[in-house]
Formats: sequence, C-alpha cells, structure tokens
Amino acid sequence: MNLPDVSIGLAHHNRAALVGQSCPDKVRQVLEPDRCIDARETISQWADYEPTALHRFDDLAAKLELDSVYYKDESTRFGLGSFKALGGAYAVQRVLHQALKTQLGDAAISLDDINQQRYPDLVDNMTVVTATDGNHGRSVAWGAQRFGCQCVIYMHENVSPARQQAVEAYGARVERVAGNYDDSVHQADHDAHQNAWQIVSDTSYPGYMEIPCDVMAGYTVMTTEAMDQLPNNLIPTHVFIQGGCGGLAGAVCADLWFRYGADMPHLVVVEPQPAACLYQSALAGNPQVVHIVDESLMAGLSCGEVSLLGWDILKAGARHFLTISDAPVVPLMQLMASGAGGKTPVVAGESAIAGLAGLIGTVNNPQLAREIGLDTKSRILLFGTEGATDPALYRELTGTRVEEVIPPGSQS
Ligand SMILES: Cc1ncc(COP(=O)(O)O)c(C=O)c1O
Repeated sequence: MNLPDVSIGLAHHNRAALVGQSCPDKVRQVLEPDRCIDARETISQWADYEPTALHRFDDLAAKLELDSVYYKDESTRFGLGSFKALGGAYAVQRVLHQALKTQLGDAAISLDDINQQRYPDLVDNMTVVTATDGNHGRSVAWGAQRFGCQCVIYMHENVSPARQQAVEAYGARVERVAGNYDDSVHQADHDAHQNAWQIVSDTSYPGYMEIPCDVMAGYTVMTTEAMDQLPNNLIPTHVFIQGGCGGLAGAVCADLWFRYGADMPHLVVVEPQPAACLYQSALAGNPQVVHIVDESLMAGLSCGEVSLLGWDILKAGARHFLTISDAPVVPLMQLMASGAGGKTPVVAGESAIAGLAGLIGTVNNPQLAREIGLDTKSRILLFGTEGATDPALYRELTGTRVEEVIPPGSQS
C-alpha cells in the first residue's frame, strides 16, 4: 500500500490539558452525562436508527507500525451520510418539545409526542433555522421534515449547489449569503430574531448555549457506539478527531472521558490550516477568531470561530492541536475507496479523512510522534465523519462513483 505523503503544518502541545485524571466537574457541567444518555435514548427510538460500522484497518496499522487503527464510518448514518444527522435533528426535536410545552402550558408533553407527530397543526406553525456548510443544515432540514415544522437554511456562497439541493429535498427553503460560513451564521441569527424563528445552530456563542449543547449530546451517540463496538473492551490510546468549530471534538472528548476516566485516550484535534480556530485558541489560551481567506476543500471543517462549549471541553481534554493542508485530502479519499485501509472499501468525504491525515502526518514526523507517544502499542480510533455528502463532487475528486466503491445492496 502506498500512503500519500502527509505533513503536519502546525502543532501545539496543550500543556493545560489534564492528563491521567478522571473527568473534571467543569467538563461534566459543560456537557452533562445525563443529557447524553437522554439523547441516546431518544435517538435510538427513531424508526430507522441503527449503529454505523466500526472498521478495523489492519493493513494501515501495519504500514504505520501501530497496534491497531479503528475507523467509525459515518457515511451511512440515517441515509444522510454524516454524523451530523445525530445532532441537528435531535436538537429540532428538543426545540419543538420545549416550544409546545410552553405554548400549551402542559409539562406532560413528551419528546415522543414530537417523534410521533401528535400535534401536527401546532408544530406546522413553527420554524427552525440555521446556517450551514451542508451537513448540519441537512440534519436540521431532515429533522424539520420528520417532526413536521418549517425550516429555513442559510448557506454561504461557496457551498456546492448539490448540497443546497440535498437540503431542499427535505422541504427546507435555502437562503444564500455572500461571504463565508461565519457570515451565514450571523445572517441566520439576524433573520431569526426578526421573524421569531428558532435557531438550531451547531455552534455556541455567548447567550446561545442550550441548543448547541443538545446537538453535541446527539453526537455522543456516535462515540458511545464506537466505544461499545471496540472488541474486548479495548481502550484506544489515541483519538485523532477533526475540528471545525469544535462541537464534534468537544462531544467526543467529553464522552471518552466519561467512560474511560483516568485512562482517557490522548486526544489530538486536526484542522485545516486556513481555518485553524481551535489551534489558535489553544495557542493563545482563549477563544480566537480566524478570518478565513481561502476555503479549505474540507468544507465541514472550514470554521473561523470556535464553539464556546466545544472549546471549554477541549481546553481541558485535548492534548494536541494540529493543522494540515488540503494536499492529502483527495489521495486519502482514494485510499479509503480502494480498501487499502483494511479489507473494506470506505466512502470517505473531504472532511472525513482529516483525523487520518493527522495520524499519518504524525507518524511521518518522528519528533512529533514521540511527543504524542505513538508506537507499536498504539491503538488508534478515528471518526470518518462523512461519506459522499456531495456525490458529484466525490466523483470529480476521486474519479470514482460511490456505486463503484460500495455496489448497491452490498452493505447490509
Ligand atoms: C463531515 C464533518 N466532519 C466534521 C465536522 C466538524 O464538526 P464541528 O464543526 O462540530 O467541529 C463537520 C462540521 O460540519 C462535518 O460536516
């Protein structure tokens, strides 16, 4: 197997991270374990719920001289093609639940009442709204359709038309915004206040914490599934996780910490160099804004502002912050498609392979590998956070159609 040449751009060792300690109260207060349990109970009741696959990449582990590499494959999640299906849609359910309880003054209304669409006329009058680079908006639109409310999605000018169509297919209205992702966040916020719509954002900011916290609680379904699927209660030594605003990485960090306590794996956050807001924040010791000039190919990771909730967890729990360029993205998507990671071909989208790129780049850099403690005993867990969320772009980039990687009907 030929691995693409991956190099790490910037690397920061977070000396503020707590090592060898059980999960501190300050992290439990940001994302409460009970909140994650509620999310898992609710999402597992959705009609089409099933855990996604956890692949073991033996060839890759051998090539990198590691004990094992596991890859949680979110390409099949609810037919939406990314882990984001777990967050936005769940938060929509919670928002509608809360709004209905307030409107009817009836505390007995349950989340299941929303799931079963027991108040269709009232819910039909409610509108949820968010900004997105694709995946989160798709989840919110899907949730809105599923539970029966209205939905408006804000997309910046660089989001591909296919990603717009995917959102519209769930009945949402799309508003295009000039500028980048952060501009679309601000526009959505502004319009929601004008129209009394409910914002369901995946990123948190001062005064807006509750709903993104539900989004993150939804993401922990993925982490908990992965931890349950690891054989013989294996505890990973390292987790390389991609960062956009940090909601995902924060949720993963907290959930690992809840389960493994003092054996918490060494968590490494990997971001695209032009949008390294988590890296910059770790360097400065407090949240920093990065003004994005060049959009990364890893569209889902192209965020210039950290989610405060994610940051509050990561500053205590993430040991390293790395950046990568776009150069390895397509070769790694192709490598996954060829099945070189293991026996199984995997459809990995542009934002899915950043953790893998961070791992390979670290192995290629002996000093960094030593600092991070990678060796032949290392057990790595990666999260392949999306599949071909834009199939035409996937084909253009990899030269392969999704159906050639995974022939229809071959995955049960
Ligand atoms: C496929 C994919 N992976 C990772 C992320 C990063 O998540 P977060 O922005 O919560 O850090 C995103 C965000 O949109 C995404 O779409």
